[in-house]
Amino acid sequence: EKALFGKGLLKGKKIIVSAGGTQEAIDPVRYISNRSSGRMGYAIARAAAMEDADVTLVSCTTALPVPSGVKIEYVRDARELCRAMNSHFDDCDAAIMAAAVSDYRPKVQATQKIKKESHDVLNIELTQNPDILYGLGQKKKGQFLVGFAAETNDVIEHGKEKLKRKNLDMLVANDVAMPGAGFNVPTNIASLLYKDGTMEQYPKMTKDELGHIIVEKISEGLKQQ
Ligand code: CTP
Ligand code: CA
Repeated sequence: EKALFGKGLLKGKKIIVSAGGTQEAIDPVRYISNRSSGRMGYAIARAAAMEDADVTLVSCTTALPVPSGVKIEYVRDARELCRAMNSHFDDCDAAIMAAAVSDYRPKVQATQKIKKESHDVLNIELTQNPDILYGLGQKKKGQFLVGFAAETNDVIEHGKEKLKRKNLDMLVANDVAMPGAGFNVPTNIASLLYKDGTMEQYPKMTKDELGHIIVEKISEGLKQQ
């Protein structure tokens, strides 16, 4: 793999990548999460390390092995992920938010296990999490900022809107309603949208392959910045 891909494209560059789905605690033993496997973010981290970048992978809980040459930091919920990404952001060259961040978390976390005896119907009130990517977009100073959009309909429209609203340099839009794309599968069908309004559509490919393409586009973007 190294011989095939490693061209030193990101030598001397500091890259931070988030991956996986956040887990928002309900009580000490339960959480709310999503179907993200973490594969896409891990593939990007691996591809960036193969291009000689200094890579920090901020990972939610996953079943994946740590890619070689990558520094890993584990987080559980959106607020921890937010702190970790912000602590590395100021001196990085590129940041990629591939994590599936829970939009909501339980408003209060029970300190003891909730017992079924006390509830026939259990209502859990949810409150919104911070939009981590939006916050990074607000404070970026030359960093190449990449976001994802998982959509079931009007993929390009929604993608363009997110790219603009979050002040991104590139957005990876996925049609998660298509077979072989999105959550918990090894492949993806992606469109790359750029802030100058251009766009590239790709056929179905493995997340590892897409990771290499994304890394190549980041290196091109950094040259122009
Ligand atoms: N994201 C984030 N913080 C959040 C929610 C999302 O940083 N609280 C990031 C994701 O990591 C992704 C991008 O924003 O890179 C888009 O996530 P997505 O869920 O598609 O968009 P949202 O802005 O949350 O809008 P919605 O889910 O309502 O479509
Ligand atoms: Ca969301």
